[in-house]
Amino acid sequence: MRTPIIAGNWKMNMNPTQTAEFVQAVKDQLPELSVVETVIAAPAVDLPALLENAQGSQLHVAAENCYFEDEGAFTGETSPKVLHEMGVDYVIIGHSERRDYFHETDEDINKKAHAIFKNEMTPIICCGESLEIREAGKAEEWVKGQIEAALKGLSADQVASLVIAYEPIWAIGTGKTATADQAEEICAVIRATVADLYDEETAANVRIQYGGSVKPANVKELMAKENIDGGLVGGASLQPESFLQLAHFND
Ligand code: 13P
Repeated sequence: MRTPIIAGNWKMNMNPTQTAEFVQAVKDQLPELSVVETVIAAPAVDLPALLENAQGSQLHVAAENCYFEDEGAFTGETSPKVLHEMGVDYVIIGHSERRDYFHETDEDINKKAHAIFKNEMTPIICCGESLEIREAGKAEEWVKGQIEAALKGLSADQVASLVIAYEPIWAIGTGKTATADQAEEICAVIRATVADLYDEETAANVRIQYGGSVKPANVKELMAKENIDGGLVGGASLQPESFLQLAHFND
């Protein structure tokens, strides 16, 4: 049984005061962890406020990125070792904004996945095609390649425990959601890829989110799909009310 996982990705929004206010507004109204797992991924500068305010609540905390080394001369990077020491549970890696604007490669993302597991946290690995790739009929092949590269060298147990987020680039921040059928189609390909690389049990356990203009109005239809286990939500995760509506999609 895969527990649904609704995660907000705040991107480069919110400050520590806004973070504290947000968590105080949602913390007592979140679903039980066994029913729907809720996560907020915040900028590194907001993580202390997020952790402090989320303490004792159902809310899990994610970083939006980290480096693949624990420490050293890497100016401006965030240590996965320190994220773990702080109490962070998840780290998003491979978001299309990081791939596009900061030139992250499949190899970097794979190294980060290993570093996150080494530091006892769980990666949320993003994948997804551009409009150009989709229109060329190559979306499945593209996403399959991203998944194979990201998972290289991970054990079946590790893969069973992680989260994959399918985020078609053309649907991010555009208000243009993939239809539930389009999202399901690629999420099914991702699960089949995991089954090919590992086994059916691992594929049955890995949780797959859809991301790209998820809103309270469309979350239910997306979550009803067999291979969609959650949402990775940008814009609609910034307001407490809308995040709570997403978290309670099932009520
Ligand atoms: P939006 O929900 O704002 O489209 O962002 C999606 C996303 O990139 C989440 O990681």
